[in-house]
Amino acid sequence: MGKIPGTKAKKIIDVIKRNSYDSTYVYPLVVADGHDCMIKDVDGNEFLDFTSNIGSSPLGYRHPDILEVRAKYGEIGMFKIAGQDFYCEEHAQLSKTLLSVLPANFKLFLCNSGTEAVENSIKLAYRKMGPHPAISCIDAFHGRTLGALTFTYSKSEQKQNFPEFAVKRIKFCTTENDPEINAAEKLLKENKIAFIITELIQGEGGYNVASKQFIRTLRKLANKYSVPLILDEVQTGLGHTGKWWAFEHFGVKPDIMSAAKALQVGASVYDKKFDPRKRGVLSSTWGGGDRINMAIATRIIKVIKRDKLLENVTKMGQTLKKGLTEISGKHGITNVRGLGLMIGIEFDLAKKRDKKMNELFKRNLLVLPAGKKSIRLIPPLVITKEQIEQGLTIMNEVFSRN
Ligand SMILES: Cc1ncc(COP(=O)(O)O)c(C=O)c1O
Repeated sequence: MGKIPGTKAKKIIDVIKRNSYDSTYVYPLVVADGHDCMIKDVDGNEFLDFTSNIGSSPLGYRHPDILEVRAKYGEIGMFKIAGQDFYCEEHAQLSKTLLSVLPANFKLFLCNSGTEAVENSIKLAYRKMGPHPAISCIDAFHGRTLGALTFTYSKSEQKQNFPEFAVKRIKFCTTENDPEINAAEKLLKENKIAFIITELIQGEGGYNVASKQFIRTLRKLANKYSVPLILDEVQTGLGHTGKWWAFEHFGVKPDIMSAAKALQVGASVYDKKFDPRKRGVLSSTWGGGDRINMAIATRIIKVIKRDKLLENVTKMGQTLKKGLTEISGKHGITNVRGLGLMIGIEFDLAKKRDKKMNELFKRNLLVLPAGKKSIRLIPPLVITKEQIEQGLTIMNEVFSRN
């Protein structure tokens, strides 16, 4: 263990900054390896990971089940294939396993990323409904490709100068008695609408948890006006909230849903009535063509079931939230919120949030920013009580320092 960042990390970052677009890096972490909930950097520093690699490593690192799947593919020469042109067994297995944790009567379309999962989800809706305006939420994040970007509305730099589809925005209501909870009705009454799209917990937007009433109202209105409700579970899906899908906390079902991150591949899942029913409407060379990642996704779902990880998420989430709630109201922390192991800590000032996040990094704890002035925590589903307590101790020390 040495300086953070160490000399190797500094050199690598220097090359990347010179040659590549300087994108959304939050601190100078250059990863080398990982085990359990720990990430090791190129200089040998170890970090406790409360980010699960931005939600995409639900079983942490070096998980024996994942290593076993990977080892099998060491023998196979053909692992990245044109997965919407040639069939493979991994696709069949993932479709069965994923549909086993979804409502009945669903089908799926596999792709590469979260934003593509959203693109294909909105295409399924437009295909059925026509190219009408759609409804999305203020502070939403649905990805960065141009179709999905229309419905993203969390940060100005993500949007500036890019063209948009027709969209009408509503408030993402987080309280049960918000006077704007029914705002979509006026839009649905006055316009032909192609779909309503929302997250259940706004991820990039700040870990804002939707009010039950808000989501139920959207479901009711979608039914009343015969408009599909698209739920974006790219960040919330596959266990991070203590249920397979965040929508289960709200007592609703989507018509179409996007998933990715923890799933390793992108997926649009949809009620069969939204099936395009004509071949070739959706496709992609590598869409669902990464055999290793599809096999890993199948194994992840099996491990979550076998090891009762949803229960672990609920328990660990309660411990983490309780520890943080005790310091809410102090040290510039104005609010602690979340579901399961998706927890947002809001600060009074963005500058303070940024400073604290970097101090945590120097203390070997990885967390992420969200929204304008919040920190988000989304540790792997396999996190232990000791690791939660270790993280809480570091956060307590860092937050209480001026
Ligand atoms: C809710 C949501 N939708 C879509 C996306 C886009 O996913 P990707 O970055 O894999 O394109 C994200 C990514 O953070 C997300 O949180």
